[in-house]
Amino acid sequence: MMRPIIFCMAMIAFLFTQACQPKGKALPPMKTTVFGTLPDGRPVHQYTLENRSGASAQIIDYGAAVTSLKVPDRNGKLEDVVLGYDSLQGYVDGTSYFGAIVGRYGNRIGKGRFVLDGKEYQLTVNDGENHLHGGAVGFNKVLWEAMPPDSGEASLRLQVVSKDGEEGYPGTVTLRVTYTLTDKNELRIDYEGTTDRPPILNPTQHSYFNLSGAFDRPILDHLLMIEADGVTPVGAGLIPTGRITDVANTPMDFRKPMAIGTHIDDPDAQLALGKGYDHNWVLRGAAGRVRKAAELYEAGSGRMMTVFTDQPGLQFYSGNFLDGSAKGKNGIAYGHRSGLCLETQAFPDTPNKPQFPSVTLRPGQVYRQTTLYQFSTK
Ligand code: GLA
Repeated sequence: MMRPIIFCMAMIAFLFTQACQPKGKALPPMKTTVFGTLPDGRPVHQYTLENRSGASAQIIDYGAAVTSLKVPDRNGKLEDVVLGYDSLQGYVDGTSYFGAIVGRYGNRIGKGRFVLDGKEYQLTVNDGENHLHGGAVGFNKVLWEAMPPDSGEASLRLQVVSKDGEEGYPGTVTLRVTYTLTDKNELRIDYEGTTDRPPILNPTQHSYFNLSGAFDRPILDHLLMIEADGVTPVGAGLIPTGRITDVANTPMDFRKPMAIGTHIDDPDAQLALGKGYDHNWVLRGAAGRVRKAAELYEAGSGRMMTVFTDQPGLQFYSGNFLDGSAKGKNGIAYGHRSGLCLETQAFPDTPNKPQFPSVTLRPGQVYRQTTLYQFSTK
């Protein structure tokens, strides 16, 4: 009795999704290839998502990393706009987090230490005396489980289970990340995390963008606008002091579009600590609701990337540690500031800064994040 009803409802839902799709174009099927083999023999797969507009994103299940993102310039020419490697070995050996999901804690925790519910935890220290991006074996260095897409869009879902105690973190965390390449040329990233014991959780996406598509060129001519009036200034080791300061009259003022190179080498104490931009901006508007966070524009190609997120903060990292030693796609050495990251997240060192928006997840709660990188031209 129930079955025909369920079948009819499924048919109606299917016909509705078909009717909503651009006419005459079927969604290209997702391609899967073997990208490489890990030292322990496990294969790593690469998945190609293509939308109805011809844009494509490639993602590997190692580190849930975006390995390529091809979007049109103002003449419709598709080019890759994210840094990465040609082979798995690059991702296994690399120290720059190209394209990966990082965590459990994206960004830094001072001395890798924090107190949660009265108990002190010591995380792996892997960045001077601090903890960075989840530790020695963070989410970027593990094989995720890829799951079949469940929508009418070009999407891929990946899951990682991080066990209680890994890198010093309490609680077992299951994190699902769904990448969707929409027909409007948006790469949407939806995160969903659950736990069995209170941990801290603050994952982010670590793609390096260069909208010119020419990775041998620095990103200093890109115009950047950030929807923020404040930053969280840092001290030694790039750990926030805990204060929020106004961007006005500082090199951190990206309220109007400004070429990244305009002030990057100014004699400024914050820039000196970051060796350029490597700071967290306090986004306007209430966290928890997706709103515009930033705009990045490259005049040569006409490509514009608009970032939307529901996170409180945005780490803008101008690729200061790239020094030509990483040989990337097509054998290109990634030089100083040849890519930039716009990492949507909670503020750095939140577990030690009770005044910052919380990153504690409790059993029964679901961690959620939605971030979109939307591509257009002008
Ligand atoms: C983040 C950090 C930077 C650097 C890069 C990776 O963006 O803020 O300081 O560690 O990751 O090289």
